[in-house]
Amino acid sequence: MNKKVNVNTLKNLKNSGEKFSVLTAYDYSTAKYIDEAGVDVVLIGDSLAMVALGYETTHNIGVEEMKIFTKAVAKGVSRALVITDMPFLSYHTDIPSAVKNCGEMIRAGANGVKIEGWSDYILEVVKRLVETGIPVMGHLGFTPQFLNTLGGYKIQGKTQEATEEILKQAKQLEAAGAFSIVLEMVPQESAKYITENISIPTISCGAGGYCDAQVLVSDDVFGKYSDFTPKFARKYGDMRALILECAKKFDQDVKSGKFPSENEVF
Ligand code: KIV
Repeated sequence: MNKKVNVNTLKNLKNSGEKFSVLTAYDYSTAKYIDEAGVDVVLIGDSLAMVALGYETTHNIGVEEMKIFTKAVAKGVSRALVITDMPFLSYHTDIPSAVKNCGEMIRAGANGVKIEGWSDYILEVVKRLVETGIPVMGHLGFTPQFLNTLGGYKIQGKTQEATEEILKQAKQLEAAGAFSIVLEMVPQESAKYITENISIPTISCGAGGYCDAQVLVSDDVFGKYSDFTPKFARKYGDMRALILECAKKFDQDVKSGKFPSENEVF
């Protein structure tokens, strides 16, 4: 399918029981290849703070940086839906600045934004964004921007009561206009229950196979980021090894005089 993916495409996929894929991207050429591969949604995740910029947590990245990466990724994508993750503090202080910051990402080339968490205030933000014409992906369960209040990287929704609470939040996000919801680090049975009880697609980030879609950080999938790999990520390649091999060969060729050759000079 070469038609540009939009929010309705994803809702229709859920209705017909077809899964879709989501991968993060942070630069032009990677985004281009991910799009070419047929991945349906490209997410400029704030995980880029850690995997691309080497920061300690996602708290360290701001709107201006996210905008630069959004521009690069959006230029590389022609088919997939491009979603920018709104960074910490970019939508939390007041509605006008939330709308402005999210609008900046649309101007930079995103087709929508992702925001974490749930509260009366967040529901109002979602409503106002949707009224402004900005599609919103929600994010529940483990929400990295709440790392300090959650007390660490902890699985969420482990009991029936906690699952009902996430379902309540998901239903309210849906009513506020969100077009999909990421469920992060939620037991698969809880994610199944939530997925079956809302009409918009759920996107699993370590929430098992019953969700309507799966998202992973591309650096984990490509085997590029080696500081930490979550249990739920699957490594499909070893880019770290490939980069090491190429860089070592180049280094040796330069030092031994094998590079450049006659064909590589003017
Ligand atoms: O920041 C990110 O990359 C994310 C996804 C993995 C869901 O939020």
